[in-house]
Amino acid sequence: MASSSRRNRDDGGLIVALDGPGSSGKSSVGAAAALELGYRFVDTGLLYRAVTWLAIRRAIAAEEVAGLVELVAEVELAPDDQGRLARVLVDGSDVTEEVHSEEVDARVSAVSRVAELRAALLERQRAMAAAGRIIVAGRDIGTVVLPDASLKIYLDASVEERARRRAVERGLDPDGPEEAAAVLVELRRRDELDRTRPVAPLRPAADARILVTDRNAFEDTVAMVVETIGEAEAADAAGRPSRRDAGRGVGGAERRGRDRLAEAPIEGGLTPLIRIVAWGARLIASAVTRVRVEGDLGAIPRVGPVILAANHASNADPVIVGAWLTPRLGRRIHWLGKKELFDWPIVGWMARHGGVHPVDRSTADLEAFRLARRILDEGHVLMVFPEGTRSPDGALQEAKDGAAMLALRTGAPVVPIAVADSDRRWPKGHLLPRPGGRVTMRVGEPLLLTDVPPEGADRKAAKGMATRRLMGAIAALLPDRQRGVYATDAVDRLHAETATPPHGDRRATGV
Ligand code: C5P
Repeated sequence: MASSSRRNRDDGGLIVALDGPGSSGKSSVGAAAALELGYRFVDTGLLYRAVTWLAIRRAIAAEEVAGLVELVAEVELAPDDQGRLARVLVDGSDVTEEVHSEEVDARVSAVSRVAELRAALLERQRAMAAAGRIIVAGRDIGTVVLPDASLKIYLDASVEERARRRAVERGLDPDGPEEAAAVLVELRRRDELDRTRPVAPLRPAADARILVTDRNAFEDTVAMVVETIGEAEAADAAGRPSRRDAGRGVGGAERRGRDRLAEAPIEGGLTPLIRIVAWGARLIASAVTRVRVEGDLGAIPRVGPVILAANHASNADPVIVGAWLTPRLGRRIHWLGKKELFDWPIVGWMARHGGVHPVDRSTADLEAFRLARRILDEGHVLMVFPEGTRSPDGALQEAKDGAAMLALRTGAPVVPIAVADSDRRWPKGHLLPRPGGRVTMRVGEPLLLTDVPPEGADRKAAKGMATRRLMGAIAALLPDRQRGVYATDAVDRLHAETATPPHGDRRATGV
């Protein structure tokens, strides 16, 4: 997908992601700005609305996933008289007006939470943007659909102001207490659903330019957007980072370097070989020790990006996680592994065929981060050990911020995993494992780290808070002796949630 989200170098136009909550003005402002700049425009919300409208007509509930996904083939966006993809066709009839009904408003956010539907619409949206010189409006364009967009804008306004605008649009009196209150309640409900969904929640991309429009007249916001795009075009043409890029993680130079790479898409399915490797690893591990798996594996998303994050105390950890989770998930787990691993007998062979991507440690950080991000942006499962290296004594060590940064930038849910007592079976510094005993892998509830930092937290503080939240969750799944530097976080978390004991009473889901 990476190639579809890049700017079209021939016509000098950019791919602009324009996200924001309901009634923030994305559609109207985006369309007007596109007209002024000679850009194409597409409103992706129409796709979700069209599917919802059809689902209502056919009495298909949001839980009937396969039925919803089938509707995608019947929906089409067509250009209006100004060339904007703003008309909705269903089986050839124009239903643009119908998809904006209150009935659709009320149902659309429940429908758009369905991960499989989002996955089915993903390539459609990317294909529409592929030719470049386009503004793409939506909720997850900068974070999921086009994470490499040349420019990301997030339009925002207070919920009260957005409700007022929506009331005016609907021809209601924005100051009429009952009508305005009803619109406000409905908008709040939809925002909440869009922000809290596990896949592609509404939030600004880490590198988005946020424009708050409360006090603006419509024309002011259009002018701001036109100016922002103009600035980015000029910066891009001059081959230097735009103001937006300066001081941010992904600089213009890096972005251009990435543009030059013709990257093959990353595979997400399971090959027979991966199944065999997982089965073989399970056989070997079971011959050495008893492995117990606890936690709700069914809560791990079956589609979309997911980060699996585990403590690291032994060479046995990746073997156990890969061997037991791969068949249960039915998805390929991607790993970043030091490239020396590939030279080892057996382990090297397993790595090569088991979804490991070699990383050169001497130049690793930026390259590894970029690769990890691409794995998630393309909707796959990534396994990480946030501590970076194996713990010398089996207890948690201070984690690096990489895993949390990935979660914050991609919006991917993170599944905390504790592998307990693997250090006793195969301690660091020992060539071979010690047979006997038991190793327990505990899988926690998926976390959305994007919900952790309070609004307005700066990036560094946000990373730190998200890392502590994640490591606290892993620590809570480990026995006391392995909680190490996160022992306090674990205890705090348990107190805060007045949870049941961290382990020992969880449902065993497999041995
Ligand atoms: O933008 P609009 O209000 O027309 O979008 C309708 C709904 O479609 C949103 O509330 C959201 O649930 C969904 N949507 C989405 N992702 C997008 C665009 C819209 O989930 N990219």
